Amino acid sequence: MSVDVQERNRLSAAVVGESAPDYKRKFSLPQYYYTSPELYRKEMEFLRSKLWLMAAHESQIPKNGDFKLFEIDGESIILCRDLQGDVHAFYNVCRHRGSPVCVTNEGNAKAFSCPYHSWTFMLDGTLKRPRAMDASFDPKEWNLKAAHLGNLDGLLFVCLAKGEAPSFEEFAGRIRPFISQYGLTKAKPVYVQDDLIVTNWKLPLENYRENYHISSVHQDLGRVMGAAMDHSNGESHAERMSRLGRSLPMVYDEAESLYLQQAIQFAFGKDQVSATQDGSAASSLMPTITEWSKGWTYINFNPLSHINLQDDYAIMVFFTPVSETVTKTSMVFLVNEDAVEGKDLDVKKLIDLYVVTMAEDNVVLGRHQKGIESGAYEPAPLALEEDQIVLFHDWYFNRVHGVPTA
Ligand code: FES
Ligand code: FE
Repeated sequence: MSVDVQERNRLSAAVVGESAPDYKRKFSLPQYYYTSPELYRKEMEFLRSKLWLMAAHESQIPKNGDFKLFEIDGESIILCRDLQGDVHAFYNVCRHRGSPVCVTNEGNAKAFSCPYHSWTFMLDGTLKRPRAMDASFDPKEWNLKAAHLGNLDGLLFVCLAKGEAPSFEEFAGRIRPFISQYGLTKAKPVYVQDDLIVTNWKLPLENYRENYHISSVHQDLGRVMGAAMDHSNGESHAERMSRLGRSLPMVYDEAESLYLQQAIQFAFGKDQVSATQDGSAASSLMPTITEWSKGWTYINFNPLSHINLQDDYAIMVFFTPVSETVTKTSMVFLVNEDAVEGKDLDVKKLIDLYVVTMAEDNVVLGRHQKGIESGAYEPAPLALEEDQIVLFHDWYFNRVHGVPTA
C-alpha cells in the first residue's frame, strides 16, 4: 500500500481527537478513513455502544435448542432458543478462561460445552457446576454474559454496549408500523448468503446509498427499476396504498439523528408486483398482506442494518465490519411460512435479482478499496445523485466524531 504511514497516523489521530482536518463536505473521504486502524477502532467503539445491530430473524432458530452465531468486529454472539422457547443473546466467551464455548456457526444443542475444559452452559446461559472446583465456587456467579437483545416482529437486534443499551423502543418505534404490515412473525428463511469482501465497512454502505452506479454496474436492476410507472387504471400508488389502509408517513432522518433511519414506500413499474427479474410474483403473499400493492418498502434501521419488503418476500441486508479492510455483506430472504417450493414459491426466481446485484456490487467494492489505497487517490466532488452519501458523511462526523459538518 503506497501510503505515508506517518502522515496517515497524524491525520487519523486528529480525527480521533475530534476534528476533521482535511475533510471537504460533498467530497469523497480521504484515504485514511478507509485504511486507518485507529479510526476503525474509534468507529467500532461507537457502533458497539450506540447502535442496535440487526443480527438475524427469529425464524433462523425456529426450534428449541437451535442456535446461530452473529459475528462483528472480532466479537462472537450466540443467538439461541432455550427449552422454553425463549430467545437469548450471549457473548461466546467461556467464563472459565475465555475460550469460545460454541465453535460451529449454527446448529441445535442441548447445552454449550466449552471445548477447552468442558465447562457446560445451559441454553439460558446458566453454568452447570463444573468438576474439580473449590467448595466455595458458586456457579451462579459465572453464567454466560448476555448481550442486549431487541425483537421487532422476529427481527433480532443486538447491542454490545457494556452498560445500559439505548432504548430499543426509541430505536424501533417509528419503523414498527412499516414492518408490521408484512407479518414477519410468521415468516421463514429460504435463502441466506454471506460474502467476505476486502473493503472498509463504509464503502458497501456508501454504495448502497447511491443510484449513480446502477446504469454502469447493474444491467438487470437498472431495467427493473427503470420500468415506467403504471397510471393506466386511474389509481396511483398513493391512492392504492390509501385504499388498502397502508399509507404511512415516510421516515427520513437528518444528520443530527441517532440512527439515520429511513422508511419509504415506493411503487414498482408497470405490470410489476415484486422485485424479481420479470416483475412477477415469486411467492405467495406475506402473512398479513391481502392484496398486491404493486410497491415495496425500503428501510434503513441504521447505516449497517437494512430490510426491503415486497408483498411476497422480505430481504434483510447486513454490512458487518470484520476489520478496517474486511467487511461481510449478508442477505437473508424471508417468505410466508406457509409457502411451498414448486407450488406457490420459486426460490431461484425470488433471489435472482438481489444475488446478481450483490455479486456485481462486491466486485466493484473490492476494486474500489484497492484504488483508494493507491498513492494517487485523492478525494473528489460527489455527483448530485450521491447526495445520500453526503448525508451519511454528515451523520458520521456528527455522531461518530462529534464534529458537525453541515
Ligand atoms: Fe472454557 Fe476452560 S476455557 S472450560
Ligand atoms: Fe449496487
